[in-house]
Amino acid sequence: MQLELVAHRGSSALRAEHTRAAYELAIDQGADALECDVRLTRDGELVCVHDRTVDRTSDGTGRVSDLTTAQLSELDFGGERGVLTMRALLGMAVDRGAGLFIETKHPVRTGGKVEVALIDLLAEFGLNRPRTKAESPVVVMSFSAMAVRRVRALAPGLPTVFLLNRMLPWLRGGVLPSWADHTGPGLSVLRADPDYVARAADRGHDTYCWTVDDPADIRFCADLGVRWLATNDPAATRTVLDAIG
Ligand code: G3P
Ligand code: CA
Repeated sequence: MQLELVAHRGSSALRAEHTRAAYELAIDQGADALECDVRLTRDGELVCVHDRTVDRTSDGTGRVSDLTTAQLSELDFGGERGVLTMRALLGMAVDRGAGLFIETKHPVRTGGKVEVALIDLLAEFGLNRPRTKAESPVVVMSFSAMAVRRVRALAPGLPTVFLLNRMLPWLRGGVLPSWADHTGPGLSVLRADPDYVARAADRGHDTYCWTVDDPADIRFCADLGVRWLATNDPAATRTVLDAIG
């Protein structure tokens, strides 16, 4: 199966993460899909921000969950005025035919509201009930088992990835819980246990590996049969893959 490139936070090696510019560039560079993190604002809007606060990525301060959409629209994020909303990113992905890997962040004080809001928003775009999982342009992911279970309950037809920043003993054999379609190990998990990709495949699960930018790591993942590679630099990663042939 062809390895697909997922632009991690957009083309974030070359543009500020989670900005329109980062995602536009990723699509221009031929990324197959876009990765984003999603959080709820105080007034219930879904916005694409990785950290709990806006301190690192904007000229403002404070927790995303304490700020309103109006307040976030006044801040500068990497040279762009206003936070990138999930609605805007979905619009861009639909217009330009890119897939989306959406990660809900936890723990958060609002618990499961982020998944409810996300599925409602996907429904507005007609993306919550794909004809088949294989055809779905949207995949939802989380490190939180509860969150992925919630997505499965709310939108059973959407494909899910259970992210792993370490190997959980009960998953080592390649099995996944019924609410997860695919596995999402970090690169270090695969470096410690490369055969995990094959064991998961034997159980019918594809592998999404993050975050892979180094040429040796790209080749390593390609050799293992990783299906989706999350990279901060889709163009450079494509060059490495093209050289492999
Ligand atoms: O794609 C998964 C990866 O993004 C998880 O780590 O911290 O970059 O969200 P993080
Ligand atoms: Ca992420």
